[in-house]
Amino acid sequence: MHTIVLLVLWVLGTSLVLPDPDTGGEKPTEEPIPCSKGCTCLHDDYSLELNVYCSARNYTQAPSDVPSSQLVSLDSQRNCIRSLPGSIFQNTPNLASLSLHNNQLSRIEEKLFTGFHDLHGLRELVLAGNRLAYLQPQLFQGLTELKELDLTGNYLKVIKANVFMKLPKLQKLYLAQNQIVTVVPRAFVGMKSLRWLDLTNNKLSALHDETFLGLHSLHVLRLSNNSISGLRPRTFRDLQYLEELRLSYNRIQALGDRIFEGLRHLEVLELEHNQVQEARMGTFMGLSHLAVINLSGSCFRSLPDQVLKGLSKLHSLHLDKGCLTRPNEKPVICMNFATYLVFY
Ligand SMILES: *[C@@H]1O[C@H](CO)[C@@H](O)[C@H](O)[C@H]1NC(C)=O
Ligand SMILES: *[C@@H]1O[C@H](CO)[C@@H](O)[C@H](O)[C@H]1NC(C)=O
Ligand SMILES: *[C@@H]1O[C@H](CO)[C@@H](O)[C@H](O)[C@H]1NC(C)=O
Repeated sequence: MHTIVLLVLWVLGTSLVLPDPDTGGEKPTEEPIPCSKGCTCLHDDYSLELNVYCSARNYTQAPSDVPSSQLVSLDSQRNCIRSLPGSIFQNTPNLASLSLHNNQLSRIEEKLFTGFHDLHGLRELVLAGNRLAYLQPQLFQGLTELKELDLTGNYLKVIKANVFMKLPKLQKLYLAQNQIVTVVPRAFVGMKSLRWLDLTNNKLSALHDETFLGLHSLHVLRLSNNSISGLRPRTFRDLQYLEELRLSYNRIQALGDRIFEGLRHLEVLELEHNQVQEARMGTFMGLSHLAVINLSGSCFRSLPDQVLKGLSKLHSLHLDKGCLTRPNEKPVICMNFATYLVFY
């Protein structure tokens, strides 16, 4: 009796894993998902998520007939989109990633990202390579889940107050390759998750001592290739977790006292191509984690004996291409300083 029951169970169990002879193991065919003309729609059967790709199609308008409720990502790079109608993202509650990289947007309707509660799930917004010259305050205010905002390569001139307000989860902000002349003091206040801020290749000539206030999580700050002519004491005082500070290709000639105060975790400091001529005894004070200083191209006229005192983790100091290596010229650096020099 027992044997028969077991045998029946064994046969049933086996038949369950055998492919059904009628369908040959294929899934039943589904209704094709309607997709915007010219776009490719990828639909995940399991999660029901919809990813739409419409790049490089010469579109002058954003696709408006994309099936919206399951839309998770929309990639419309390298088109010729000039404007976005205010209603375009009204019914896209699940949109997490939107790329409009390399289009011709010159203006974004303020209401687009504010009144629209539906974009509350957006995590990544790429607007790089457009023609945006102005960001309205509150433009990004509804985007409470946003983690990454890319505005590289636009025509921005001024970063005004309150533009980046209420972006508590933003981790990466890219503002490189614009024409930014001014960042107002406290422009980034409230961005408590920001880890990465890139302002490379702009036209900043001065930094206010409250420019970076409130960026308590910042790890990387890039300010290379601007026209910064000097640094005020304590400009970076709130950046206690900063690990990398790039200030190369600027016009800083003197490194004053306490300019890097508060940067307790700084590991890499890039200052090459500034024609630095002067540093003070307190310039690098407190940078107890500093491992690399690049002062390539500097031409010191005065350098206090103890300028590197306390930098116990320093393993690499770059002073090439400056007065030290210029032939037929007497080195300007005093020799007791040279005991610290290690070139890797
Ligand atoms: C877009 O326009 C360019 C230049 O007119 C053309 O060479 C290219 O084939 C067009 N691409 C599409 C997808 O229509
Ligand atoms: C600095 O920025 C300008 C444009 O602002 C660019 O043309 C130049 O190549 C950049 N230089 C470096 C060294 O990145
Ligand atoms: C220091 O700067 C010079 C000049 O820009 C560059 O060639 C070198 O690679 C830099 N070194 C480091 C360690 O970043």
